[in-house]
Amino acid sequence: MGKIYNSITELVGHTPIVEFKRLEEKLGLKGRIAGKLEYFNPAGSHKDRMAIEIIEAAEKRGDISPDKTTLIEFTSGNTGVAMAAFAAAKGYKFKIGIQNGVSIERKKLLEAYQADIAEDIPQELIAGVFEKGIAAFGDVLDYMKKGVEHPYATRQLDNVDNINAHYKHTGPEIWEDTDGKVDIFVGGVGTGGSTHGVSKFLKEKNPSVKVVITQPEPNDVANPIVDGVEDGGFHGIHQVHDDNGLTPMAPTNFSDEYTDEYTFITYAETLRAIHLLAKYEGIFVGASAGASLAVAIKLALKEENKGKLIVPLLPDNGERYLSEDLQKVRPEVEEKAGF
Ligand SMILES: Cc1ncc(COP(=O)(O)O)c(C=O)c1O
Repeated sequence: MGKIYNSITELVGHTPIVEFKRLEEKLGLKGRIAGKLEYFNPAGSHKDRMAIEIIEAAEKRGDISPDKTTLIEFTSGNTGVAMAAFAAAKGYKFKIGIQNGVSIERKKLLEAYQADIAEDIPQELIAGVFEKGIAAFGDVLDYMKKGVEHPYATRQLDNVDNINAHYKHTGPEIWEDTDGKVDIFVGGVGTGGSTHGVSKFLKEKNPSVKVVITQPEPNDVANPIVDGVEDGGFHGIHQVHDDNGLTPMAPTNFSDEYTDEYTFITYAETLRAIHLLAKYEGIFVGASAGASLAVAIKLALKEENKGKLIVPLLPDNGERYLSEDLQKVRPEVEEKAGF
């Protein structure tokens, strides 16, 4: 029987989970690691799920329609790419503001999908996001709405349909594909939608599933290893928790209600995990995926996790950051990482 799809919007989700058996063997891991490969989504990341859920939920409520609405978002990259692709596929106009430090590949993808990139956002508004935290995103969106006839800000940071996308799909896929055997879920936080939705679903199914949140080591965020290679940082994930509780970078869509542990990861550990996965499994992932994989490796090295099934969410592919030389194997990376 033939199968021709009507649109890329029908191809979101059902991404594969792959056990990294050669990696387990080479590193002598006690636990098992099975990564969820979100780059199999049509626009290349886990953000496809959120973009389509937000757009289609707003359509169902009658809030937007392609003939009049301009979708608006401010983002560090993958959300923009996903929104731009689906806006194009559905016939919406899409205006995007981008944070400093977006990889050149992601910027060029926005051009490819012919998104309207807002170049006029005042730098002090953008800087406010880093000074005041997540709350300042609203000021940027309000600025971007000016002069647009029917703007609709998709608001990934506090739009509940971001969480719903992962509660309705990503979480159930992990549960079903592991036959309910997942012991530990690992993910990082940008908007918090993916970790919130997945962990809420998994904990409802089995409260003893452990949720570990990947946190970039603050010193390495400010100064990733530098030796002439232009390092791009962790891409899309932030520290959201410290000794005093949630930080100003914790978005509304993140919930620590479902979190059992926060684990800091260095940039060297992140790169090392990326290199090991490429070398032993033929899978080349981006930095946030590398960070969660590094957490999974450290968990799997522990005797207490012997035989446990650890599932890291791997948001995107390393090809999206080739300009940053993520793939470059350097001796000091292995030394610093220690695994
Ligand atoms: C590459 C990458 N990894 C991880 C994240 C974080 O995912 P979430 O927004 O669901 O917390 C993002 C989000 O910006 C991202 O672009």
